[in-house]
Amino acid sequence: MAENQKGTAPARNRWVVGITGASGSIYGIRLAEELLKRDKEVHLVVTEAGWRVLKEEMGWQASKRSQMLQDRFGDFAINGRLVYHPNSDIGASIASGSFRVSGMVVAPCSMGTLSSIAHGISDDLMTRAADVMLKERRRLLLVPRETPLHAIHLENMLTLARLGVTILPAMPAFYYKPQSMDEMINFLVGKVLDSMDVEHDLYRRWGDEQYGLETPDHHR
Ligand SMILES: Cc1cc2nc3c(=O)[nH]c(=O)nc-3n(C[C@H](O)[C@H](O)[C@H](O)COP(=O)(O)O)c2cc1C
Repeated sequence: MAENQKGTAPARNRWVVGITGASGSIYGIRLAEELLKRDKEVHLVVTEAGWRVLKEEMGWQASKRSQMLQDRFGDFAINGRLVYHPNSDIGASIASGSFRVSGMVVAPCSMGTLSSIAHGISDDLMTRAADVMLKERRRLLLVPRETPLHAIHLENMLTLARLGVTILPAMPAFYYKPQSMDEMINFLVGKVLDSMDVEHDLYRRWGDEQYGLETPDHHR
């Protein structure tokens, strides 16, 4: 895995993926995997709380960060298309608008990070990189996870939506009858990829006849 290095992919093939301390760290991991499989270069940043939740939810040891990433991403980490940036490194490539990327996805996005982004507080690499997306008018997608939501959460999301940020809450659907946790994760990751205009077949699309679903009249 390359750490702190500049990537070599063209901007359109390069995405920043952020993992914060909201529940659902698997979403960010699976998203990074799917992007890497599709020849994208992924610049990964994880907050301290993100590492804490990775420990709780996936058993990842925060004291062995490089090892955990190597184990999960294997060849992608070794050949350098996964570029990991420590969140404290505010001098990393992705902290600058001159480093060209297609955009950034924060999945999952905590209410804390969402609030910082909404208020232009860029005191670590995660929030600085997101701030760069806003100032450079690049794509920014946030996958918030919290429940219930209070008015400040909702106002922050509205502020960001009005700036053109895609707010894609980690909300499962049941109409496609998921049979496993993997299917539920793939559904959410697939929705994120849809919003990034990245082709995939991670979930069954409503009305897709190859899955035996008939297109209902009101969807025609
Ligand atoms: C196991 C665990 C689960 C958490 N789940 C959420 C969550 O779903 N949403 C959220 O906004 N914060 C959640 N938190 C709290 C955040 O991690 C905390 O507010 C943290 O300061 C966020 O920091 P960050 O935005 O830098 O990642 C969780 C914390 C832990 C330890």
